[in-house]
Amino acid sequence: MRGKFITFEGCEGSGKSTQLKLLSEYLKSAGVDFITSREPGGSEISEDIRRIILNGKYTSMCDECEALLYAASRVQHIKEVIEPALAAGKLVVCDRFVDSSFAYQGYARGLGEQFIKNINAFALEKYTPDLTVFLDIVPKDAFARKHGADDSDRMEKQGLAFHQKVYEGYKQLQKYPRFCPVDCSGDKWQTAENIKNLLKSRNIIK
Ligand code: TMP
Repeated sequence: MRGKFITFEGCEGSGKSTQLKLLSEYLKSAGVDFITSREPGGSEISEDIRRIILNGKYTSMCDECEALLYAASRVQHIKEVIEPALAAGKLVVCDRFVDSSFAYQGYARGLGEQFIKNINAFALEKYTPDLTVFLDIVPKDAFARKHGADDSDRMEKQGLAFHQKVYEGYKQLQKYPRFCPVDCSGDKWQTAENIKNLLKSRNIIK
């Protein structure tokens, strides 16, 4: 049987990495056959594209180029990593996917939903996630948690107003039943429990 595909989304500092680590530990202990990956990245070529996109020196990169690079790295990642794992029946857990493009490039950069749909047609045709876990914390609180933005990262250094727009973009994605906000107001253990319960209620894990 084909595997399931779940993604994690959230603003910078929302705790995705911590929660992915905790979920991985749980899945391992439960004997689930799974892989984790990330976007942009996840394969050698896609990680190289990631370095270009996030390089702080490329201040003149236009929004369309940025969106296309994310989409290009995504196609390569799907073909090399996601599709083979799903075909082998594995659960795929990915840190960010096309919803990041909707929130960051479509909404916050203002390119619009249709533009993102067009350039991500390959991903959207067959790889819409079965479930998206959205770590719901406003950027102001998220940046406070991680003690400010990383200025060498082209995206992180966009400023609070930009990241607040990203958050609003994410909120619009709640129109999709697969897109599920998770309360992160408690400690990391409580959030991990909330995520585990969500995965169970959506029949992703038993
Ligand atoms: P990360 O730091 O969570 O790995 O993500 C890298 C940055 O790329 C982060 O600022 C979010 C951004 N991003 C987009 O703007 N669009 C996308 O499609 C993806 C996957 C990430």
